[in-house]
Amino acid sequence: MITLGGSTSKRLAESVSKKLGSELGSIDYRRFPDGEIYLRLLSDVNHRDCVLIETTDSNDALIELLLLLDLLRDLNARKIYTVVPYLGYSRQDRRFMEGEAFSARTILKLIDQFSDSILTVNCHFLDSEGEFSFEGVKIRNLDAFPLVAEYFKNKLKKPVLISPDEGALEYAKRASEIINCEFDYLEKTRISDQEVKINTKKLDVSGKDVIILDDMISTGTTIIEAAKFIKAQGARSIHAGCIHGVFSMGLQQFSGVLDDLVCTDTIPTEVSKITVADLISKAIL
Ligand code: R5P
Repeated sequence: MITLGGSTSKRLAESVSKKLGSELGSIDYRRFPDGEIYLRLLSDVNHRDCVLIETTDSNDALIELLLLLDLLRDLNARKIYTVVPYLGYSRQDRRFMEGEAFSARTILKLIDQFSDSILTVNCHFLDSEGEFSFEGVKIRNLDAFPLVAEYFKNKLKKPVLISPDEGALEYAKRASEIINCEFDYLEKTRISDQEVKINTKKLDVSGKDVIILDDMISTGTTIIEAAKFIKAQGARSIHAGCIHGVFSMGLQQFSGVLDDLVCTDTIPTEVSKITVADLISKAIL
């Protein structure tokens, strides 16, 4: 077996490869002057099982993944395990309005063409761990919420876990059992891509250390609005954790609002203090 990492998931691929005891493949990634991607595989994959890890948090990463997958097929890889720790476009998991692209289906159909199996972590449109068929594409979904819960366990004096909306409710509930703390959730109305409204609700957070858990933080609007709402109800401290730190507006905006911010390395960021390497390697073995 050989493990390969796309440029967005090099470090994660290194750790997974160590845990699997497999060779770490070598790839030459470059850019042509016009920005197009150049790739050359420097390892032998002929008749070998390949694990390719690439998070698709950008269009470039997605193209790179597709180029690599087709290359592996072309070079006679035996079995291709495609690991997409963060699957981009997963929020467009249906046609919300007439005429819209059904992006999640398109992306998965493309990846599926070249893959023998697809593994992902807390895919946005799946609310539990396991094997699923999405529009005819088989995906195995892993749950990293317990890892985030472990990070917070025994760290805070009076913890209470709050889910900022009903989206990741089941995951967050299970995380509260690991932390062994109370659980509640907020009701959120999304007004636009960058605007949300938290519906008024009385919370029992006065003097407590609140952990807000979500599957992903993108613009940060949800977490920031939730934190302000919770703070106004007397919380002592506010800690936020997520699986996928997209952070499309950067990290600066969270300082002064949150006491701690942590995410996993499905997307490598400055606050990726939790690794999903073990979770992925155990799922492959
Ligand atoms: C929504 O369903 C998700 O669970 C997240 O709450 C959302 O994607 C976060 O987005 P943003 O950071 O842009 O508010």
